[in-house]
Amino acid sequence: MRRVRFHAYGGPEVLCVEEAESPVPGPGELLVRTEAIGVTLPCARRVRGDGKGGGDPLPTMPGGEIAGEVVALGPDVTGFAVGDRVTSLTFKGSYAELALAPAALASAIPDGASAVEAVALVRSGQVALAALSTAAPAGRESVLITGAASATGHLAVQLAKLQGVPRVVAAVGSAAKAEFLYGLGADEVVTYDQVSWGEPVDIVLDGVGGELLPRAVAALAEGGRLIFFNSGGGTVPAFELLAGSKTITGLTMRRFATVNPERYARHHARLWELAASGQLRAAVHTELPLAEAAKAHEIIEARANLGKVVLRP
Ligand SMILES: NC(=O)c1ccc[n+]([C@@H]2O[C@H](COP(=O)([O-])OP(=O)(O)OC[C@H]3O[C@@H](n4cnc5c(N)ncnc54)[C@H](OP(=O)(O)O)[C@@H]3O)[C@@H](O)[C@H]2O)c1
Repeated sequence: MRRVRFHAYGGPEVLCVEEAESPVPGPGELLVRTEAIGVTLPCARRVRGDGKGGGDPLPTMPGGEIAGEVVALGPDVTGFAVGDRVTSLTFKGSYAELALAPAALASAIPDGASAVEAVALVRSGQVALAALSTAAPAGRESVLITGAASATGHLAVQLAKLQGVPRVVAAVGSAAKAEFLYGLGADEVVTYDQVSWGEPVDIVLDGVGGELLPRAVAALAEGGRLIFFNSGGGTVPAFELLAGSKTITGLTMRRFATVNPERYARHHARLWELAASGQLRAAVHTELPLAEAAKAHEIIEARANLGKVVLRP
């Protein structure tokens, strides 16, 4: 099978295509013939050696999201059969024609749905729904979403509006993304370089972090809460939390899915339901062949994507 790995940290150019033996599924794992592979900002960061927790051991295969067909089951796996079509998170890399996925985090793709849609809708939608349900907007509470045009962010904008949030503010790096976001229902679009982001909000879903984190905390009204789900790191302005009685909650999909399996399953069903009824649209920015993984990373690093970037083996 073909796979893409990096043998040294660097830009997209260090990604190289290799031939390799098929991996063997261990206990609790599925072997999946990939039909669509999600490309994310954390993947690009890992290739540069600045992923969460520092650099990966080299060489490494990036990738954490797949959709495709189950071709083998590890020992003790129940609930799936060879031939099933699934989408899943992966923790052992996914830029390959065959990838290992934990069965506990895999979910079925409905008949008639494409693998590309599964990756764009479910993988990013799970993050958006987890962030939104953790924040639990109530009544007339307002929500600001940073990285709002990203794969995750553009679904969070739509999901917040579907939940009845009266004021959804979409924050992005470039004004060129405004039309896309208004088209998805955002009430206001702001860019990071604007001096003011408008009236304070009750909730921030922070998909960017880093230097933007203090700004995102400052955008909160008194008593507001921020869900920190990004890979950008950053320094928490602790005094601002104290002075404004604000809270920050961290969120990783890995833990959310493991600790809340029922909610994770419910969110999966909800995402497909909303997509089938035409209420939720997962935008696919581009689909590229696996061998063009470097080009996919260039798009993400240029901060140019509107929605999901997908590789097709
Ligand atoms: N907690 C979890 O388990 C989990 C799971 C998946 C994703 N995430 C996080 O969710 C966020 C969005 O992920 P995604 O996969 O939806 O993103 P994506 O589709 O890969 O989009 C990346 C977008 O992030 C923005 N961005 C902010 N800082 C950037 C930087 N330094 N370099 C490049 N782009 C930057 C850019 O838009 P703007 O310039 O408009 O900001 C860019 O278009 C990421 O921080 C990711 O780590 C978290």
